Amino acid sequence: MTEFKVPFIDLQQRYQDEKQELLACVDRVLSKGHLVMTEEVGEFEKRITDYTGAKYCVSCGNGTDALMLGMWALGMGKGDEVITTPISFIASTGSIAHIGATPVYADVRDDQNIDPAEIEKKITPRTKAIMPVHWSGRIADMDPIMAIARKHNLAVIEDAAQTMGAFYKGRHGGTFGHIGTFSAHPLKNLNAIGDGGFLVTNDEEIASKVRLYRNHGLKDRDTCLFYGVNSRLDSLNAEILIYRLTRLEAVVERRRHNVDLYRKIIRAKEVFIPEDKDYEKNAYVMMITQADRRDELQAFLLKRGVQSLVYYGTPLHLHPAAKRFGFKRGDFPKAEHQADRVLALPHHQQLSEDQIAFAADAVNVFYGA
Ligand SMILES: Cc1ncc(COP(=O)(O)O)c(C=O)c1O
Repeated sequence: MTEFKVPFIDLQQRYQDEKQELLACVDRVLSKGHLVMTEEVGEFEKRITDYTGAKYCVSCGNGTDALMLGMWALGMGKGDEVITTPISFIASTGSIAHIGATPVYADVRDDQNIDPAEIEKKITPRTKAIMPVHWSGRIADMDPIMAIARKHNLAVIEDAAQTMGAFYKGRHGGTFGHIGTFSAHPLKNLNAIGDGGFLVTNDEEIASKVRLYRNHGLKDRDTCLFYGVNSRLDSLNAEILIYRLTRLEAVVERRRHNVDLYRKIIRAKEVFIPEDKDYEKNAYVMMITQADRRDELQAFLLKRGVQSLVYYGTPLHLHPAAKRFGFKRGDFPKAEHQADRVLALPHHQQLSEDQIAFAADAVNVFYGA
């Protein structure tokens, strides 16, 4: 199945574990013969509101579209500045650039999430919104972020792509701001068989606008209120996500358990694993460590059959695509320092305790710990 002793992800095994249920989903949906915008989609959205506690959920094609649909619905575009983090997947900044707005970065804390103390320094008369990213399944410090947003009358779009199953002070990620956007990409804790996304909001007007934007701006078959896009979650993925939502808690618990094992076994002082605060429940979509001599460690692990990945070696402000915004190395020292050190270790739910122990021991061996 896989050439690694400890693979970073194992979607083939996941299929074997869920084969019967997934094939039943396929059969149910295909038998009906309705594949787009059917009752499964509405049911999935309802289950997400039940789970997250948000009033409204609107599904769409992927997490990147969810960000853009949300910002369009807020009336954002050219001339607006959005304060966000240099540590994320490219889609956070890409969506801001695509709607014509300008990304403005605030540096991160040791746990890799945006530092609220840096946000206020970046506010200008053009600032329209703050976009925190709940990186790797840990929710950004939303209390101070929301306080800043209220004080300056800013919108908050939480990039909650990696947040299903994560809580902050008892509240689900994505429900603090005006909009929370999610991805159901195969590597997420709640994952589709392909791409998928959704957003949540407590604002009925935003939800209605996003529903229109995701479907060409069509009020009905004959009436286009404004030009939107085609970004719909297909019915088969909706049905599969309904099923997988019933397993989400188990997935998150297993991942958290595996992270605990790493914490117990790794002795090497050269590896930093950010602590979980007692008020947060980290969903651990990824388990990102910060390690000295990261590239050497990664090569050493690979030789032993342990697959690890760098998320990401380049902070967002240093990509060629960001050149037009005029950033340079040195602008966000914490993010840059972390980008040189981050290494995600395999911790997914299909791994056995022995596999985790094997990987963790290998880390100790590398550092002679
Ligand atoms: C933080 C973050 N934002 C946005 C996205 C985009 O989601 P998608 O791949 O579903 O478009 C991702 C996906 O990996 C992500 O990790």
